[in-house]
Amino acid sequence: MQERQSIHGTWANRWIFILAATGSAVGLGNIWKFPYITGENGGGAFVLVYLFCILLVGIPIMMGEVLVGRRGRCSPINSMKETARESGLSSRWQLVGWMGALAGFLIFTFYSVIAGWVLHYIAGMAAGDFVDIGRDQAGGRFEALLAAPETMVIWHSVFVVLVMLVVAGGVNKGLERATRIMMPALFVLLLLLLGYSFTTGHFGEGLSFLFSFSPEALTWDSVLVALGHSFFTLSLGMGAILAYGAYMPKNASIGGTVLTIGLLDTVVALVAGMAIFPIVFANELDPGAGPGLMFITLPVAFGQMPGGQIFGFLFFLLVGVAAWTSAISLMEPATAWLVERFDLERLPACMLLGVAGWAVGIACLGSFNFLSDFKLMGMNTFDFLDFITANIMLPMGGLFLALYVGWFMKKAVAENELAVVNARYFQIWYLVLRFVAPVAVAIIFALNLYEKLA
Ligand code: PFF
Ligand code: NA
Repeated sequence: MQERQSIHGTWANRWIFILAATGSAVGLGNIWKFPYITGENGGGAFVLVYLFCILLVGIPIMMGEVLVGRRGRCSPINSMKETARESGLSSRWQLVGWMGALAGFLIFTFYSVIAGWVLHYIAGMAAGDFVDIGRDQAGGRFEALLAAPETMVIWHSVFVVLVMLVVAGGVNKGLERATRIMMPALFVLLLLLLGYSFTTGHFGEGLSFLFSFSPEALTWDSVLVALGHSFFTLSLGMGAILAYGAYMPKNASIGGTVLTIGLLDTVVALVAGMAIFPIVFANELDPGAGPGLMFITLPVAFGQMPGGQIFGFLFFLLVGVAAWTSAISLMEPATAWLVERFDLERLPACMLLGVAGWAVGIACLGSFNFLSDFKLMGMNTFDFLDFITANIMLPMGGLFLALYVGWFMKKAVAENELAVVNARYFQIWYLVLRFVAPVAVAIIFALNLYEKLA
């Protein structure tokens, strides 16, 4: 097949792709969600299962997504369609792309609500609102925010506009430019904070919570959460990485690139955990506090530590930047598809999605106040969207992608895209993608279903 070009543009080089994909991967999932679900699921054993999922399911599937994207050179929906045609398969495979686009849209809605909280905290830290705050006051402040839909709507809207501004600029003038500025900033902030947290002490208890293996805390439910989170944190199963892969230069190696991205994402999650849990224990807070963990524990700590006001500000700035680069990648697949399908300009395409996502986001933030009685499957809108995307749709999307690349697409296409030099590595990856990853996802799904029904 003659090599296709992306109509949306191509990353300037391999490093821009790595940084952009890392920008997608590193986000609220690492700094907000990973610590709180680790806390809720009892620590060490959960972390171990999570690391297995990253290595044996996440990384191999990420390689699959990147290679389908680079082969198809389109939005996920059309890349699935094109590569299926090339291998003589049914065009129905594009349904995987459709499910992904829907999942991305749904994640965007609640993701930007939390990102809105982060913006609110950036402003609060800058204003010195948290100086010398105690834990009850910090908890009270967070609850006050949740009870104030007007405040949340404002910050939620600001965040959606920030994302649209970048996505509207397109691959080179929007995504790539944002990547070049924000990713170095993100790493600098992370290093500053890491250095700072080393000076604060209380490491031992936090570390042992993260890494001591206590299997009694583990249930099939927490294994499902770990699996779902490994997809969420690597931005897999919905086409974000597939879309970014479509803009990847042909000469870049997929294997090494993907390993780098997976490693960076894992390191950031673990560092976030190491920064948060010592503070939790030092202040006798509850590690299982749920989504509020980051918004209550950290302000308490920053409020009391020397230099806490500046570092608290920098911390939430870091989280905001990380959320921003991730939300961009949530919008890119559907935006690219609208551009391809209806020949739209970037601006109207992403406006359409932004307005729709913003509106559904209002229902999400209402879960904490005016819509708190509205339940879907016994969950409020926010929890429901989080649950069906992370724990159902992303693993399903990943499962189908693994089956597609491993069992249906022509093997020669994968070999060609991965530019196989070492046949042994290729064989290992191919076996894991064909057998280990799909079987793991299927078993975890089945056991959960069995447990729910039994
Ligand atoms: N990976 C992001 C995080 O960890 O915060 C969340 C995310 C971004 C999930 C993009 C899915 C996605 F397509
Ligand atoms: Na992540």
